[in-house]
Amino acid sequence: MIEHLSVAFYPEHIREERWERDIALMKTSGINAVRVLEFAWSRLERADGEFDFAWVDRFMKLLEKARIKVVPCTPSAAPPAWITRRHPDCVVMDANGHRAGHGARRHYCPTSRRYRDYSNRIARKMQQALSGYSNILAWQLDNEFGWNKCYCPECNDAFRKFMKDKYQTLDKLNAAIGGAFWSEDFWIWEELELPRAGYSTVGGYSSPEMLLAFNEFYSDQITAFMAEQVAALRAAGCQVPISTNMMADFPEIDYWKMAKHLDVVGFDNYFDVYTLSGDSLAHNLIRSLKKGQGYWTFENQVDTVDSTMPTAPGFNLLQALSAMAHGEIGHTFFRWDSCRFAQEKDLLGLVDWSGKPRAKLLEIRTIRQTLDELSQIAMPPLENKVAIVFSYKNYWGTARYYGTYWEELENYYQALFDLGIGCDCVQTGDDLAKYSLVLAPGLQLVADDELENFRKYVRTGGVLLAGRKTFAKGVSGSYRESDHPALGDVFGIRVVETHGSKDMNDLTTRWSGPDISFKMTGAHGLPDTASHGWFETLELNGAESLYNYADGYYAGAAAASMNHFGNGVACYLGTRIGRESMQALMSLVLDNAKIGPLLNVPQGMQIVRRGNVWIATNHSGAELSVKLPLPVSPLQGSMPAQDTLTLPKYGWSVFAVAK
Ligand code: GAL
Repeated sequence: MIEHLSVAFYPEHIREERWERDIALMKTSGINAVRVLEFAWSRLERADGEFDFAWVDRFMKLLEKARIKVVPCTPSAAPPAWITRRHPDCVVMDANGHRAGHGARRHYCPTSRRYRDYSNRIARKMQQALSGYSNILAWQLDNEFGWNKCYCPECNDAFRKFMKDKYQTLDKLNAAIGGAFWSEDFWIWEELELPRAGYSTVGGYSSPEMLLAFNEFYSDQITAFMAEQVAALRAAGCQVPISTNMMADFPEIDYWKMAKHLDVVGFDNYFDVYTLSGDSLAHNLIRSLKKGQGYWTFENQVDTVDSTMPTAPGFNLLQALSAMAHGEIGHTFFRWDSCRFAQEKDLLGLVDWSGKPRAKLLEIRTIRQTLDELSQIAMPPLENKVAIVFSYKNYWGTARYYGTYWEELENYYQALFDLGIGCDCVQTGDDLAKYSLVLAPGLQLVADDELENFRKYVRTGGVLLAGRKTFAKGVSGSYRESDHPALGDVFGIRVVETHGSKDMNDLTTRWSGPDISFKMTGAHGLPDTASHGWFETLELNGAESLYNYADGYYAGAAAASMNHFGNGVACYLGTRIGRESMQALMSLVLDNAKIGPLLNVPQGMQIVRRGNVWIATNHSGAELSVKLPLPVSPLQGSMPAQDTLTLPKYGWSVFAVAK
């Protein structure tokens, strides 16, 4: 249940005389927490070691009096001018050797010893300054860690050490990065550098294996930077939970590793970034980082950012209900006031430039009231029987630019979502036994021992669906020197051809070739369909075919398969198929995993199951209906009539199904 409805509040953007009025308005609007000080470093420390917390005390007193909880942030995302001007070593250096200038954010070097020290010191000072307040709820570290890959000498030295620790010898290093190709070997450690060839003007790119290693290094540096701030806060006496605002579809940081340093996780949810099913996948991923523990959204975009369409009335309530259904416990609106100046001056908040309520603010009261009513319902925990493997190595190792791995996962998740089934996200080495179905789309890079984890899972009764070069590469990112897929006996196949037209390879997001498509014939009741994007042909060594190419180069060859192995089933999808056929294929594997009942959720609707309590939301501007295969009892919102739930536009319903 969502306990805290909060807002991102920047008191340093608003005249002090207005604070009390704004806080009173928050209070009457149902807001019980604020997130503050996120980028306020230049107002907290105007010169090296000259701290000013007097103004912070003044607004903290007002918030304490209003009994509003506070989530302070460490301000390290935005270094003040005295750092960027006097200490260039604190600022990122690009691949061409240029340091960034002052006046942006996220442009600090995550490795810089000096910047880490300054960041830790301001975190400590803030903790000390706020230690007397009883209303500190949690801390947020920095803002959206990432975006600041740096090529400075300090990063270079740290990268060399990282590679030395990882590979020990130059022979092993050269084998891992494909050094034999284009004379990329290193025979003296001192010659090893961060990969910057992709940025040169003379053509050619760095080896994808080197880029993969760089990503891993960078992710570790950011996480270490963050962990130092956790330690600084704790050393200064912080006893409340510590978190940070992640971004779900974000390829730069291994959030599984980062989450280990945090007490609670959270993410920023921008509606123009995700599709409806992608948004659901985002919630599922973030919840899974801490094994199902409650999580926050630290930013929910409430309205247009001048170039996007305004959100419909009721939209924010649906976002909150959807988040609550997925397991969220704290929901923050971005932002309180409409921004008047600087980079985000066209961003609209809950109140206008003068501090008067906008229509969106009035919706917050309805959200609070609805959540309070729903808190009377005993909400069972989420118990998903499906897991999607989510691996950051694969995010990094399958494309130079981001989006592609996520798109592949979303393609599979969309089919589950359309059937009204949710999922957890897991790592390659996790114990998979509690799941009846595991999806491993595009999971190309897997370590040998992790391969065995999948073999065991299927042998002991699990159902696995994989595809698009799944298991084809080892952890360094190079292809294995063995038949593909590596678990050929488990899948009962060998992949003979792997081609792409609009495929994504290691260097580009999309191949710019023609959009080739082949007809496909389905078996096992699967509808005939078309295949596009990439094409693998399968030699069946015990498996049955689920799809065959019906025309073109591959006519007659199998494109998808199903194999019984041990007590389980392993399916392989060697091409990309459309939404409806993907849904049919997913129904087949869900049936094999004995997961149901399956629904036919119309586009625009979402159904999340929490045990026998289901939450349905209609995010579209049209009335939508869904057939429910069970007797249901209404709890809140629109009432299902017999076996049909009809939701008006932007409507919702919470109901119980028979157990
Ligand atoms: C977020 C960021 C906010 C603000 C917002 C604008 O990603 O965390 O600080 O910049 O975008 O849409």
